[in-house]
Formats: sequence, structure tokens, C-alpha cells
Amino acid sequence: MKTGLYDVDKCRAQFPSLTQEVGGYTAAFFDGPGGTQVPRRVIDAVVRYYTESNCNTHGLFKTSRETEEILDGARRAMADFMGCSAGEVAFGNNMTTLNYSLSRALGRTMKPGDEVVITDLDHEANRGPWLALEELGVVVRSVKVNLPDCTLDYKDFESKVNPRTRVVALGYASNAVGTINDVKWAADLAHSVGAVCVVDAVHSALHVTVDVNDIGCDFLLCSAYKFFGPHVGIMYGKRDAFDNLRTYKVKAQNEMPPYKIETGTLNHEGIAGVTEAVDFIAGLGEAFVEENLGVGIESDTGRCSCGCCCSEPPERSRRRDIVAGFEAIERHERPLLSTLMDGLDSVRGVTMYGLPATARRTPTVSFRLKGKAPAEIAEFLGDRGIFVWDGDFYATTLIERMGLAEQGGVVRVGIAPYNTAEEVDRLLHWVRKIAAE
Ligand SMILES: Cc1ncc(COP(=O)(O)O)c(C=O)c1O
Repeated sequence: MKTGLYDVDKCRAQFPSLTQEVGGYTAAFFDGPGGTQVPRRVIDAVVRYYTESNCNTHGLFKTSRETEEILDGARRAMADFMGCSAGEVAFGNNMTTLNYSLSRALGRTMKPGDEVVITDLDHEANRGPWLALEELGVVVRSVKVNLPDCTLDYKDFESKVNPRTRVVALGYASNAVGTINDVKWAADLAHSVGAVCVVDAVHSALHVTVDVNDIGCDFLLCSAYKFFGPHVGIMYGKRDAFDNLRTYKVKAQNEMPPYKIETGTLNHEGIAGVTEAVDFIAGLGEAFVEENLGVGIESDTGRCSCGCCCSEPPERSRRRDIVAGFEAIERHERPLLSTLMDGLDSVRGVTMYGLPATARRTPTVSFRLKGKAPAEIAEFLGDRGIFVWDGDFYATTLIERMGLAEQGGVVRVGIAPYNTAEEVDRLLHWVRKIAAE
């Protein structure tokens, strides 16, 4: 039955790993920005693939045909997830590897003096592949970050984009401090000078609906392990930009998008799980009444009213449920974020970084505690069943700009759809304890 409420217990019941204990404490997984836990249906899909369909592609027999159907199904699922068509969805090892393939392909058409714009806020996976083009004489400019709120300096951004700019690459959201960037604005800016826009949606993908048409970007990358799926990288390539891409590929590889960037055999079992991860999010959306979100099928046009781009009935309803799923996730995570930030704020010696809870941001909170190294705090919490990350999380440039690189970076707490108010209270309890030591 559909209800208007997000049922966190029902959500949690689908994750076998959440019942683990550490030293007598039930584990609380606040490590989501490094990778979420996985629901049973994803695990089952991986096992099912190995049990029933394990094979390579292009064979004229059952398991090979099934493998191709599974890959096609996953492209359709990710198309619904990102708001594009299945032919615009490519798979790879992870986001970083796909982004290197993308930068190498785009780099082939560049000449010395061409420019690429990246940002200081980004994960190194969306900096390194572009900085590598400096070897070809390409000039890479990095947009500054405003401190202490950790937002992009949009004036600086504007000043760095010019007619020599060929690529603008930025993150949708910061995996270190949760800032959500104005990617739509950045895509418009890139296009105004004839550049392509590449968006790293790895961190945002758990919290924000991806709509590539609304953003207007040419390429967008994410990773399924950050939103309940296996370790699989995914790339959206807008049809014409993908057509023009001169990827490095073997002669036998299909030269059409999306296959042209998929070097070698894919992670079939992982990709089988990707479809289930998407359907899991759609399932969260189904739990909302349609009136609650004001989405549904328009009676006059027969199209979905959620603003999605899909037109086929099955995709249309899954896209609608995905959009509703993200609405459900946000409604659940927002109050937890406020409790977490208010609670941390009240602990003597705590400094938080980034935007306030009321701003447009993800529920990923970074902090330091006076007199304690981030690693010491993470270990103290970890021993008590509270899993948080410490360090720079490969947002190396941001942590350097914050002056924290030599001091162990920050402690990062990431709220995921399966976290509860009780877990946030438990985390705050132990932070207070270590602060009082
Ligand atoms: C914002 C962001 N971009 C890129 C990456 C790299 O993703 P992958 O591990 O799929 O290469 C990460 C991983 O943590 C990330 O958080």
C-alpha cells in the first residue's frame, strides 16, 4: 500500500549488512559518501547473474543472450535515473577510469594553448584526468573556492572561461563538505564559448535527482556503489557529443556510442546489480502517494508530469518513481542533517566546514575537534560502531586550500537514506564524550 510517509525501518530491513555489531555496538554506517551499503535485491541480482547467466556477449546461446539483455536493461535503468536515452549510457570500471578515457579522447582533438577549466572544490577524479592534458600543452585553470563556506567563486569561474576553453569540468556536489554547485549555470557558460561541460555526479547521485537535459551538460559521470549498487562506473554522453568523441579503442570494438568508450569486457555481474539499485530507489518513491508530490500521468497528454524526458510508458513510470524516491530521501535526510549540525555545533571545540543545514547542500558534514586528530576521532567512533571517514577523501585540493592537509584533514559524517535519528543521537553522544576527555 502507498503511504505518504518514508518508512526508514522498511528501508533498513532490505539491507542485510545493517545488523552487524562491532564490540557489542550495532554498527551505524555514516560512511556513505565513500560507498553505501547494498540492499538484498542488488546482492541477489549479482548471485543470480553468476548462477544463471554468466557469460560473455555476442554468443548465439542462452547465457550470452541473457547477458546482453541484462546489459541493455541496466542501460535503460540508468537512462531513467539520469533522464536520458539508453543509447547515451556507457559503463566502465569506475568514474575515475571513465573520466580518464573521456579526457584522453577529448584531448586528442586539442592543441597547445587550448584551455580546460576545473575547480578547487573537486575530487581529484575530476581534476587529475584534465591536468594530465598539460602534457599536450593544454592550459588547465582551476576555479577558486570561497572559504569558509566552501562554495565556488562564480566570479572567478566566469573570468576563467574564454574562447580558448574547450572543456569545463566540475562536480555536482562536493564529497568533502556537501556543497551543491550550480551545474546548469556552468553548462550554459561552457556552451557560450563552444566548450563541452563535464559533470561529476558521483557524490550528488545519492541525494539529488539527476536530470541531464535540465543541466544541459554534455557528459556526466557517476558510480553505482555510491547509490546502493556494485562497483560500476557510469557515463552519460549527450548523443552528438558522444558521436563526436574519438575514443581510444581496439579495432573490433563497436565504434558507436555508448560502446565506443567501453574497452574490453564489462563487469556484467555488477551491472546486473545496477538495475536493482535504480529499482530500489524507484521503490522508495513508490511509497509516496502521487498527490503528495504532485506527480503523475497527465490525462490530456498521457505524459508524466514530473518534468522528466521519458516518453515510453515503462520508463516513464520508473522515472517518475525515481524522482519521487529522491524527494522521499530528501525529506528523510533533511531533519537528520539539522539534528546532526545543531548537535555538533553545541559541542565545545567543534568546527564545522561548509554551508549551513538550511542551504542547498547534501547531508555530508565535515568537522574538526580541537586537540584531537581526525583519525583519532574516527577510530574512537569506529570502535563504538559509528563508521565515519577521516582525511581528505581525495578532495585533496580543497583540504589544502583549507590549510588542513598537514593536520589530518577533517572527520566526515555522511547521512544516507538508511540512517536514523537514533544513530545521529548515538554519534553525537560519542562526539561529546571524546570532546570531554
Ligand atoms: C565526488 C567524487 N568524484 C569522483 C569519485 C571517484 O569515483 P570512483 O571511485 O568511481 O572512481 C568519488 C569517490 O569517492 C567522489 O566522491
